[in-house]
Amino acid sequence: MPLVPPIKSQGIKTKLVDWIAASIVDVEYDRWVEPFMGTGVVGFNIQPKKALLCDSNPHLIKFYKGIQDKEITSGIVKQFLTEEGHKLLDSDGDYFYEVRKRFNETGSSLDFLFLSRSCFNGMMRFNRKGGYNVPFCKKPNRFAQALVTKITNQVKNISQVIELGDFTFKHQDFQQTLAEIKKTDLVYSDPPYIGRHVDYFDSWSEEEEMELNKGLVKSKSKYILSTWLSNKYRTNDYIFSIWKDSFITTKEHFYHVGGKEKNRNAVNEALISNVELQNSISTTSMKEKIANGESQIITQEKEYSKPIQLVMKLEEDKPNTNYSRLTPPPIK
Ligand SMILES: C[S@@+](CC[C@H](N)C(=O)[O-])C[C@H]1O[C@@H](n2cnc3c(N)ncnc32)[C@H](O)[C@@H]1O
Repeated sequence: MPLVPPIKSQGIKTKLVDWIAASIVDVEYDRWVEPFMGTGVVGFNIQPKKALLCDSNPHLIKFYKGIQDKEITSGIVKQFLTEEGHKLLDSDGDYFYEVRKRFNETGSSLDFLFLSRSCFNGMMRFNRKGGYNVPFCKKPNRFAQALVTKITNQVKNISQVIELGDFTFKHQDFQQTLAEIKKTDLVYSDPPYIGRHVDYFDSWSEEEEMELNKGLVKSKSKYILSTWLSNKYRTNDYIFSIWKDSFITTKEHFYHVGGKEKNRNAVNEALISNVELQNSISTTSMKEKIANGESQIITQEKEYSKPIQLVMKLEEDKPNTNYSRLTPPPIK
């Protein structure tokens, strides 16, 4: 069971970290680098001796720096969420919007955590002015003791991982991170999907994807890119243009829309790399497989067939299984 970070986001890779870790098992490197750390779930599970984790979203970096500097501890989180949770319940949920306003004025990391765990579907979204704008999950008793304990434990686990390793967190654009890469690094890139989701900290264009590719090639480091190969409607042709002449390994992943079993959408997730990974083939061979109508799945493991978001929801919402909508599949 992977380590789950306290902050949530729609692009979180919790369900894929075991596969990512297994894919790079033979790859040697001195430092793990993530230009797009997001919630940090991948690096925190890989647990490298040395890591540089970066993101353009300042709130994520501030949160993890706060844990590293011990300004945010499991004890502080427990007390904060318990007290604020009572206010949320007493206000019948209206207090969520007071915290959201306060967060947009002060950028408090504890408020960020509160919002991340009580907003609609654990989304992370910011408006054009950089203001957090996700609505409430509509559960006034959201911070019942069981969830507070769960989040407190997640903070404790992540702080232990950060303390044991040599972690550096930086708020910066991927271009700056690319400029800091060394040949002996292993760079794991998980950028937003091109053109799919545009918000203040999270938009991505074809030009940026090309810049990323150019920077990684120039750095002469080993690199892996998380992306998708295909869904029932289309194939991600960037794999065969921008990322051509790479290695690829794939795994089928199911996203639920509406929480119903019949609404499962399969996506073939892909890892692209300039070094051979476990079970990888060349992108040229993959192109031939697709042209011949063969299966594109290289790694198939049964335990990955349940979506993590559904698992999380079932665990967190035991008394109320009314999970209304889950993250849609990554369609470009
Ligand atoms: C798909 S998410 C990463 C998810 C992460 N692997 C996880 O499991 O939580 C992409 C991340 O890229 C960040 N991002 C978007 N544009 C960026 C840029 N130009 N430079 C650096 N980070 C960027 C977003 O803030 C977001 O956290």
